[in-house]
Amino acid sequence: MARDALVAGIDVGTTKICTIIAAQQTDGRLEIVGVGLTPSAGLKRGVIVDREDAIAAIRSSVELAQGQAGVELTSAWVGVTGAHISSVNVTGRTNVAPGPAVCEEDLARAVQSARDAVPLPQDREIIHEVVRGFAVDGETGISRPVGMSGRRLDVELHAVTGTASIVENVERCVADAGVAVARRALEPIATGTAVITDAERDLGVILIDVGGGTSDVAVFLGGSIAHTSAIPVGGNHVTRDLARLLRVSFDEAEKLKCRYGRALPESVNRDESVQVQLADGSESEHVPLHLVAEIIEPRLEEIFSLVRGNIVRSGVYEQASAGVVLSGGGSQLPDTAGLASRVLDGLPVRVGSPRGVYGPIEAASNPIYATGIGLAILAAREGATAVDRPAGRPTVLDRIRDWWERVLPRA
Ligand SMILES: Nc1ncnc2c1ncn2[C@@H]1O[C@H](COP(=O)(O)OP(=O)(O)OP(=O)(O)O)[C@@H](O)[C@H]1O
Ligand SMILES: [Mg+2]
Repeated sequence: MARDALVAGIDVGTTKICTIIAAQQTDGRLEIVGVGLTPSAGLKRGVIVDREDAIAAIRSSVELAQGQAGVELTSAWVGVTGAHISSVNVTGRTNVAPGPAVCEEDLARAVQSARDAVPLPQDREIIHEVVRGFAVDGETGISRPVGMSGRRLDVELHAVTGTASIVENVERCVADAGVAVARRALEPIATGTAVITDAERDLGVILIDVGGGTSDVAVFLGGSIAHTSAIPVGGNHVTRDLARLLRVSFDEAEKLKCRYGRALPESVNRDESVQVQLADGSESEHVPLHLVAEIIEPRLEEIFSLVRGNIVRSGVYEQASAGVVLSGGGSQLPDTAGLASRVLDGLPVRVGSPRGVYGPIEAASNPIYATGIGLAILAAREGATAVDRPAGRPTVLDRIRDWWERVLPRA
């Protein structure tokens, strides 16, 4: 296998760190050759709270993946998310410079004028941007206008803003764990890349990635990203509810949830129960599984209704005709899709797993790997390499090329 055919993504999550190393095959598919899944540390809701712990956790995830792939990573795409992010669609406009056709400088000016329209309070910056499309002399839906005749160029830009320091801290931890950050991507956009079909993206689809500390949302319309956000509630809240109400430790509640939990109490047999160890260690108790589901249901309902409210406010809720795709560890409880559909006005809901990749069955089918795989797919699309380029400052040429790749439509 050629070494320069390798790409990598690192998903720095609240509950787990997932490093994916993948090899690009000649048929265009990606083969997963290294997976490093380790428990996360030093992070809360996507924010670094203990640098040393976070660096150690990232390092062990990277080492695991490297060991499997038999290579040493020098760079990777890294996912960013957290409740601090918000998104906006803006437009930019420029007059095409005199000449035979629209040129790249015209695009750059149009994109810059769209960026200038993004409201940016102090401390916030654009952390991810996607060009949704161009219009030449009012003719919309143009993806690559360079070379076309025209006088006026408009651009529609999806800009995700976030707290600069939060994003920088995640990236510095990855760099200090020994891997250069080739590029960052918003996690729900990466996840969507892995689990959503082109047809769904065209029709209009809602992606909900229920993680540990946050639930990330991305809405795709007409083939492009239309809305992104993150809700500060996730699967860990479900576990904490179980722990508090049943008086068991967080670990015991997590085991109970993953082994016996269901999202809808009506599908649980009323006679079934399970023995749990109480937090004080003194006794164990029989807990009806119906009660477990009754505790889980309202928290998941809350997550999906917060997501619903968020998308309704963004104005795109009605347009998601292909329905909803769920991802993330928090979407794995049986009946979660049914419950989500109930809250989301009967929209069709499916649990998505990574597509267009092959490799270890577990990684290629389980939604908890979807973000890491999506990051690797994004890296592959942009011709990134994970092992050959020495870690270090990119050249001016690299930066110009990176900028172009970043602003051209693809999400
Ligand atoms: N089999 C399972 N059944 C139910 N829940 C599960 C299962 N496996 C994992 N989870 C839950 O999924 C959550 C973690 O999901 P995931 O790994 O996608 O999060 P993360 O990416 O680390 O977090 P975040 O995206 O919030 O930073 C935890 O709350 C965990 O309890
Ligand atoms: Mg996640």
